[in-house]
Amino acid sequence: MNSPRTFRAPGRVNLIGEHTDYNLGFVLPIALDLATYIRTQASEDGQIHVSSEQREGERAWPAAESAALQPIGHWSDYVAGVARELAARGVKIEPLRLQIRSDVPEGSGLSSSAALEVSAALALLHGQNFERLEIAKLCQRAESDFVGMPCGIMDQFVAVFGHDQAAIRIDCRSLEYQTVVLPRNLEIIAVNSMVKHELGASAYRTRVQECAIAVDCISRQFPDVKSLRDATLAHLEKAKMPRVVMRRARHIVSENMRVGLFVGAAERSDLDRMGKLFFESHRSMRHDYEITCDEVDFLVDTAAGIPGCYGARMTGGGFGGCTVNLVAPDAAESFRSAIGARYQERFQIDPPIFRCVPAAGASEVTVA
Ligand code: GLA
Repeated sequence: MNSPRTFRAPGRVNLIGEHTDYNLGFVLPIALDLATYIRTQASEDGQIHVSSEQREGERAWPAAESAALQPIGHWSDYVAGVARELAARGVKIEPLRLQIRSDVPEGSGLSSSAALEVSAALALLHGQNFERLEIAKLCQRAESDFVGMPCGIMDQFVAVFGHDQAAIRIDCRSLEYQTVVLPRNLEIIAVNSMVKHELGASAYRTRVQECAIAVDCISRQFPDVKSLRDATLAHLEKAKMPRVVMRRARHIVSENMRVGLFVGAAERSDLDRMGKLFFESHRSMRHDYEITCDEVDFLVDTAAGIPGCYGARMTGGGFGGCTVNLVAPDAAESFRSAIGARYQERFQIDPPIFRCVPAAGASEVTVA
């Protein structure tokens, strides 16, 4: 009854559809085998205790008072925010010790925060039944309302619903998803620039605001446009808006189109087309959405010149983190050494490089 249990939630790599989620559009992530694990043990003092192998400082609070938690600007806010959301939904939070261990690198665009939130939700639920979609939604709310990062639903959704054989295409308005099986003769390789996206949070907020301004401007002339999901390139040409806002909106509108085109190309195993869409997506993030940085631009430009690489783009929120590359399996080894050497030569950084293999969404695990 009181024996330790372990809950796992994966990080993710987003293949295409960047910053489209909070515009109610489409995204295509895969859940990764890199994950956050939380080991639970009963606590005898009525409190929840949270500690992490990766982060300094522990936190404790009376389990029965989880509904009244407030953020304190500490990493444990991700867990406390989830506890508050669960308690607000009537879940009885049992006193537990939560020991966290994660192999999702932080600040790398692989969504370590959603992995933490979703594993925390499962650990705190401790086997109580709860609708899976609601878990994703309340974890997103914990991040936006409690931690204060106004993110979309992609990361929490894929941490819950990830599939071990496929990417998932999420419609971020209806919250329906389909699995998309990727061509077999393809490796997905992530290269970590090791640039942490410190600029990210404030720039992310600005992008969210700019998209809202774009919708405001467009809907004055086209009242049916309720989000950038509804907008087309023709709307952008006709509606009046500041130039920079138009460029932000153009990224979102074109990126939504690219998700559909990419899924079609994947279904036909058209690797060249998939690769081209990756490069287009990166260009759009670089010039229109302006969320890249020199290091990731260099990684993408370099990848473009390496034989066997079909396409490359930055993945995740932006301003650093990882690039994701589509590579022919027989060229994977030479790709790794070429890109590692060029990056090292240019920035004196040895970039971690790893193969992305789809993994299942969050669950309890027997051994971790
Ligand atoms: C972060 C957010 C997501 C999404 C991506 C960009 O990971 O948490 O909701 O907006 O950035 O695609």
